[in-house]
Amino acid sequence: MKKLILKLSKILGIIILIIALGSLGLWWYFNVTFLNFEKDFAEQKSIKNLTLNEYTFSDRNQNGKLDIFEDDRKSIEERVEDLIIRMTLEEKIHLLKGSGLGSAIGDKNSEVPGAVGTIVSTPRLGIPSVYLSDGPAGLRIHPKRDDKNRTYYCTAFPIGSQLASTWNTDVIYDIGSAMGSEAREYGIDVILGPGANIHRHPLCGRNFEYYSEDPVLSGIIGASMINGIESQGVGSAVKHFVANNQEASRNINDAIISVRALREIYLKGFEIIVKKSQPWAIMSSYNKINGTYVAESKDILTDILRGEWDFQGLVMTDWFGGNSAPLSIAAGNDLLEPGTRRQWEALLDAAENGSLSEADINTSARRILKLILKSKKMESYQYNNNPDLKSNALLSKKAATEGIVLLKNKSVLPFKNSKNVALLGVTSYDFISGGTGSGDVNEAYSISLEEGLRNLNYKINNKAKSLYEVHRDNNKDKFVKPEGFMAMFNPYFPPRISYTDQEIKEIVSSSDIGIITIGRISGEGADRAVRDDFLISEIEKNMIFQVCEAYNKENKKVIVVLNIGGVIEMSSWKDKPDAILLAWQGGQEGGNAVAEIISGKENPSGKLPMTFPIALDDHRSNSNFPLEGGTVELSNFISNSSEEKLESEKIKNKDYTNYNEGIYVGYRHFDKEKLDVSYPFGYGLSYSSFKFEDSNLFLDKNTIKISLKITNTGEYIGKEVIQVYSSISSSKIDRPDKELRTFHKTEKIFPGNSTDVELEIPKNDLSFWSEKSSSWELEPGEYKFHIGSSSRDIHIIESFEIK
Ligand code: BGC
Repeated sequence: MKKLILKLSKILGIIILIIALGSLGLWWYFNVTFLNFEKDFAEQKSIKNLTLNEYTFSDRNQNGKLDIFEDDRKSIEERVEDLIIRMTLEEKIHLLKGSGLGSAIGDKNSEVPGAVGTIVSTPRLGIPSVYLSDGPAGLRIHPKRDDKNRTYYCTAFPIGSQLASTWNTDVIYDIGSAMGSEAREYGIDVILGPGANIHRHPLCGRNFEYYSEDPVLSGIIGASMINGIESQGVGSAVKHFVANNQEASRNINDAIISVRALREIYLKGFEIIVKKSQPWAIMSSYNKINGTYVAESKDILTDILRGEWDFQGLVMTDWFGGNSAPLSIAAGNDLLEPGTRRQWEALLDAAENGSLSEADINTSARRILKLILKSKKMESYQYNNNPDLKSNALLSKKAATEGIVLLKNKSVLPFKNSKNVALLGVTSYDFISGGTGSGDVNEAYSISLEEGLRNLNYKINNKAKSLYEVHRDNNKDKFVKPEGFMAMFNPYFPPRISYTDQEIKEIVSSSDIGIITIGRISGEGADRAVRDDFLISEIEKNMIFQVCEAYNKENKKVIVVLNIGGVIEMSSWKDKPDAILLAWQGGQEGGNAVAEIISGKENPSGKLPMTFPIALDDHRSNSNFPLEGGTVELSNFISNSSEEKLESEKIKNKDYTNYNEGIYVGYRHFDKEKLDVSYPFGYGLSYSSFKFEDSNLFLDKNTIKISLKITNTGEYIGKEVIQVYSSISSSKIDRPDKELRTFHKTEKIFPGNSTDVELEIPKNDLSFWSEKSSSWELEPGEYKFHIGSSSRDIHIIESFEIK
């Protein structure tokens, strides 16, 4: 027996040793490949003067001995050319990839811990490192560092879909400026956002980061955001270019799309963004399109983006994206992020054997140098690590309030005088500020609905609150909020609560009104599922039905607040509550924003940037989307390669996805098929009402100009969004019933007052993409302009003949 135990413990010892050595080896491999490969590799390859230590740019400008590249009186182009001549080929190749993930996951040398990427320095020439950081709802850096006596929190702004729901370009510009100023003061030079992918299907796990199912809304909102960010001397990298519309297998997924749909839907938003804001950078997406990785597509990254749209900035890969480093550079993907040792090696080899030309290397190096020369880092800007978080929180609340959409109101809101509010559902107390993944923000605090209502002096019903507390105490381990890096990939979603009839009875009798919050969270790495996510769960359904019935019996009202990041099913329950507020995930001030709308301190003016369908299957894309909540495979993510499978082995919606719906995405499809929906695109109620009148439409050179008068016919001060859709009366080709062409949100209009609104549509915006001629074509004919307050609430139709 003793012998046996001895033998077993020996075997165990050996196993432990093997595991330990294996892990050590793996860690070493990971370290030299992805994290700290810069220095080691540089030494091995005897590339001189490479160090990760930050170079302090000398002040030689003062003493008259200037090299051209240092002379900031010269144009950036001249300075870049001077650098290109001075740099060795190795130095230029070195520039084409970042320094790895070190800064993101704990490199002590990182100047900005938590920055997820870098552009490397060239110390010999005084070219500093530039830091890149996520993302669409606010900056993401580590909130805590070794200096224990202070923090580095950032403002959590509302999610992209909520920002789009404002339809307010001024508000978005201000949010961009705030985000840009935070980046600047934390030493970040490029923000990895905004996200401008199209909501092709409601279950894409990252839809919350993106704006809309419509390219014009996405493009206009995205451009305002970028103009705001870049007004602060900080760049933005709009992402994910293009057609990254699912998370499932995103690193290998081949999106099979017609050229027309690509042009009119998926590229269009980015095209508007490039033309209206010229971002410093664009991030290419992971996926393939029609067989080619976007990261390696010369057609998309060079011919269309630069050739046709005149994009002047740089293109970077998504993190570990693309397949072949040399092919990516040759295609016009200038910067490989976050950069790996393998990519560096591949670029050096390709340069040596001639498969990557020096001209291509120079082209990409030029674009990267241009960005560096524009950066605050190059100016040796002394950032203060103290952005104005207080003012930015106020801006965040303003945007959240404007982005809340009032979906239903049976004379219950605003709700001013009642005192005791019963909050039902866990999310009322654990309000969700945003999604997870790289779109997550490390904010200092997040205001729940409960806190928001308290801040406006509402009394929170004790019975409902104590039931929540008991539920929380009974599930302690599931109520632990992950922090920092862990929060990125662990959606905090504590178990839902159910109430007995008796409990509800007591809540109803002790309160004046009930508010039920329905919460959802999703994020990078996975798509959403149908069950318990798109569809409300049994517990939620019972809660809504029971609570509404009990309150209505007592002649009291119920409001449902949707604290969600994406579309959910509503037709099975939306007739139950008296009011429904789509609060989205409003950032750190979300709870305050909802309270301001509930109280009537602010009048809702948000409009849906996407359709809420009756059933998921009503979407034409539904038969070609991974409905089971598919995920990103880690192996594809890290290894950066996809094994080429035989055609017959490829799995639908994973290896490839057919975009059979073509241009019929969102309302374009619902309108064409005349389908009923829960809530249409562009929809949103106000506490007031507005009259559209005195319209006029004419052609001025090549621009269609529309003017009209909007009058507030209600009793509350409020804003209205004027939406203009176009259609053509008879077309030779298949065209949508109507398409959004432009929009305008008014300032606040007082009751009884009017405001004049002017809108413009360049005539060429009415063109369609002809696959026959491979170009945009403007069909002659009679065009109708549907002017309304939603895609299905048209107040005026104007016609115009194009000859
Ligand atoms: C995401 C990007 C993000 C990058 C850096 C990638 O996984 O797709 O959106 O900017 O990581 O965090």
